[in-house]
Amino acid sequence: MTVRHLLADDDLTAEEQSAVLDLAAALKADRHAEQPLAGPRSVAIIFDKPTLRTQLSFTTGVAELGGYPMVVDGNLAQIGTRESIADVARVVGRQVSAIVWRTHGQDRLQEMADHVDVPVVNALTDDYHPCQLLADLLTIREHKGSTAGRTIAYVGDGANNMAHSYLLACALAGMHVRIGTPASHQPSADVLARAERIAGEQGGSILVTDDPTAAVAGADVVATDTWVSMGMESEKGDRTGQTSPFAPFAVTTQLLDHAAADAIVLHCLPAYRGLEIAADVIDGPQSVVWDEAENRLHAQKALLTFLLRASS
Ligand code: NVA
Repeated sequence: MTVRHLLADDDLTAEEQSAVLDLAAALKADRHAEQPLAGPRSVAIIFDKPTLRTQLSFTTGVAELGGYPMVVDGNLAQIGTRESIADVARVVGRQVSAIVWRTHGQDRLQEMADHVDVPVVNALTDDYHPCQLLADLLTIREHKGSTAGRTIAYVGDGANNMAHSYLLACALAGMHVRIGTPASHQPSADVLARAERIAGEQGGSILVTDDPTAAVAGADVVATDTWVSMGMESEKGDRTGQTSPFAPFAVTTQLLDHAAADAIVLHCLPAYRGLEIAADVIDGPQSVVWDEAENRLHAQKALLTFLLRASS
């Protein structure tokens, strides 16, 4: 039996990503059209880090797919300390139809996937946030009609999970991807190499620049993320203070003026107004962040449906 996981954005081919987005749009139009978990079959949804949108959208989504969402508190399970990841995987994998896990290192997620016969979904690691990107691409499709050939500019922390996922997922979607970030916070060389290869295959391109205006110039989509990701709290002073290296990359109306006049603005949330994004941008007419947050639900239902079908 083949088991399909989504550990990083490029675990899907371009064709598979497109099919998942098509299904997500269909499920948004008819929320109960697919019932792959009817029975009901359970999905374990495990959190080692804080959550709001991910817990809401996966629990609602699994229920709407006919299944039972079993939320596991990582503080109680203590995966990898109370018992090994491999032993947890052997126990959980025999009881549920899929595992959704938000955790720290990518190696932890990989180890889980290596020891189960059911799909494992990355619900955010330090390295990637692929479920968020499926929601973002669905939102871009809705507001721009298509992704291929469009330009997206992500400005802010270029070394974090969202930057990496924008590089990979948007390259798969045939987009021109620009990362505006200080020289001190560059994306991982491995992710960049993978994104450049994919962009070459899909007709897009990759640009990493420390000039925020050059990143945003003429872009169809402008995206940002917190400067202090979960787990980086001890660096908060340096990342948000007067001398923050990210300050020139804040999405203000002045920066947004360099994008296309009809550019849309994305933010995965939670947002910190006055830091990475100005209040008049996130609460302004170009912001589509509430559609983006809702689309987590539809995109993840489509993803689970795809992975369960492809694994059976
Ligand atoms: N980069 C952020 C994304 C939050 C959804 C973090 O990891 O905290």
